[in-house]
Amino acid sequence: MEDAVITLRNVWVRYNESVILEDVSLTVERGEILSIVGPNGSGKSTLLRAIMGFKPPFRGTVSVLGGEPQRVPRGSIGYLPQKSADDFTMPVSVFDVVAMARYAGKGFFERLSGEDRAIIDRSLEAVEIADLRKRHFGSLSGGQKQRALIARAIAVRPKILLLDEPSTGLDALAQDNFYQMLLSLRDSMGLTIVMVSHDIGAVSKIVDRLACLKTRIHFHGSPTDCFANKSLADVFGKNMYYINHDHGHGRGGHGNGDRP
Ligand SMILES: Nc1ncnc2c1ncn2[C@@H]1O[C@H](COP(=O)(O)OP(=O)(O)O)[C@@H](O)[C@H]1O
Ligand SMILES: [Mg+2]
Repeated sequence: MEDAVITLRNVWVRYNESVILEDVSLTVERGEILSIVGPNGSGKSTLLRAIMGFKPPFRGTVSVLGGEPQRVPRGSIGYLPQKSADDFTMPVSVFDVVAMARYAGKGFFERLSGEDRAIIDRSLEAVEIADLRKRHFGSLSGGQKQRALIARAIAVRPKILLLDEPSTGLDALAQDNFYQMLLSLRDSMGLTIVMVSHDIGAVSKIVDRLACLKTRIHFHGSPTDCFANKSLADVFGKNMYYINHDHGHGRGGHGNGDRP
């Protein structure tokens, strides 16, 4: 328990009169990859916002790195909000997108230091797109955009990565490559990762634990136990096809499926 990086205890969250999260208890241990799965509207993004401290619970407690989310030191959490790739229409280079992470906390006219530039370069290398640093962000493929946004999220040098449906819009091969990259990031940077996903089938191959959420946590444990557990049907109902969705080519590919 002492190695828990994130702890939610009996957390209740509401928007207006609607209860969105009901009595949610969850721990994420250091170095773990947890995926939160559940149908649309089940509260997954809200759960990440509660961990970030953006949406405090009206009952229960959230603890991140041993304290309140609002008091976590700057840069401790790298956050990739849902659908952020589409939100970028500004004509900026890949380098500039990642550089945004290094401007946070600087004065308006302050420039990037040599150390900032080194961190940006290392972040681009970590997600294997260093060769694309001068490219226009808008010209990248979906998978490359997601990598650039992950580079931005890790350029704050976080201990925790929170990713909200990071693989949406990627084809199956690009998805598997993306997940493999997350595994190596976790190992090389000692990250703890919480990832919201729609696709239990794909994430089950790489995550340590799954949490099935529909207002409440219906299951929290290993993917193997999850498949043996009937509560999946409670959560997904007629959307069970998400679970059976099989990416036939298996895991372990380090190819560049989404690269030109
Ligand atoms: N800012 C908000 N104001 C009011 N209701 C919201 C807000 N954000 C989310 N909700 C509601 O909370 C529920 C869960 O949303 P969300 O956490 O985004 O689910 P998911 O990410 O699982 O699709 C939905 O019914 C949604 O309409
Ligand atoms: Mg969401």
